[in-house]
Amino acid sequence: MSYDKINNAMRRALELALLGPAHGVNPQVGTVILNAEGEIIAEGWHKGAGTPHAEVDALSKLSEVPRGATAVVTLEPCNHTGRTGPCAQALIAAGIGTVIYAADDPGDASAGGAATLRAAGIEVVSGVMREQAEEQARVWLTANRRKRPFVTLKWATSIDGRAAAEDRTSKWISGPESRADAHRRRSEADAIMVGTGTVIADDPELTARKPDGSLYEHQPLRVVVGERELEPTYRVFNSDAQTIQLRTHSLHGILEALWQEGIKHVFVEGGPTLASHFARLGLVDEFIIYQAPMLLGGSRLAIGDVGVSNIADAKHIEFAETYMLGNDIFIRARANKKAGN
Ligand SMILES: NC(=O)c1ccc[n+]([C@@H]2O[C@H](COP(=O)([O-])OP(=O)(O)OC[C@H]3O[C@@H](n4cnc5c(N)ncnc54)[C@H](OP(=O)(O)O)[C@@H]3O)[C@@H](O)[C@H]2O)c1
Repeated sequence: MSYDKINNAMRRALELALLGPAHGVNPQVGTVILNAEGEIIAEGWHKGAGTPHAEVDALSKLSEVPRGATAVVTLEPCNHTGRTGPCAQALIAAGIGTVIYAADDPGDASAGGAATLRAAGIEVVSGVMREQAEEQARVWLTANRRKRPFVTLKWATSIDGRAAAEDRTSKWISGPESRADAHRRRSEADAIMVGTGTVIADDPELTARKPDGSLYEHQPLRVVVGERELEPTYRVFNSDAQTIQLRTHSLHGILEALWQEGIKHVFVEGGPTLASHFARLGLVDEFIIYQAPMLLGGSRLAIGDVGVSNIADAKHIEFAETYMLGNDIFIRARANKKAGN
């Protein structure tokens, strides 16, 4: 089969993967099944925990699998019997001749699908469009490799890096397009986290809301970190989503506890004290920054002491995406582990 046909099929599988939910314990996975001529005969994707995996979803669309069929999958087929059977077995049972996948499965329980398929005589090709697949599935892959939730640190600042005015007011630094984007990203996370300082200063709701004010169907768990006693009248404790307060400063302990609860992606929204500690400990995987065209000056920086006293110790990050969002600048950046951070 030609490389073009294989690459087009993988591109389609990556698109299909995005139709599934980004939140939850399972990855977004897409599958395309090709006949011996390389034509797409079935498509599938994973619709969330407890529902069929992408490979099984695609196979279910075919009354019979023709000889010489190829399954093109964004992630190594799983080898794990959870709420649904292992995909490797389903592909073997269906008589698939070749399996082409993009990214290896790092999961403890689910990895090993490729070996199972090969042992059953199926031709297996891995690494097709791996870079794109790994980028798309970075939250799930990184979380499973690090055995802790993926941490996104988000802030909105003035162009001079201030997260609030001198009197601590910070509402609406960024514009409506940035706020809508931040809410959509919240809706894709499993948890939103802030320190007690932000609750006291801003009384935020920390829900994921659409531009018309209605709630997204999925609401991440709201996590407030800090020992101060908070009045139950703060809006973060309203009934729109679940909330927990963790009365500790141990960020490693917090991430461990959330991982045990099946939280794969934490969206840390500040404030500066909590954000600095995450950065100082090297626990940030990705930064989401909205920079607004205003000057605030003063002392309310988005982030404080991150443990850097000399330029040689700077914590390097890598811009992954930068563009104008309304009147703001949007930045997505990843921690650059290669630079020694
Ligand atoms: N522009 C933005 O994106 C943005 C976002 C959020 C907040 N803000 C602004 O930030 C200001 C509030 O700043 P803040 O620094 O006081 O808020 P914060 O970082 O939300 O809260 C700090 C508190 O978090 C708790 N905490 C728990 N574990 C911690 C750890 N490991 N390291 C550090 N703190 C830990 C401590 O609470 P206990 O003392 O209770 O233990 C600490 O006092 C407000 O003016 C708000 O408007 C701006």
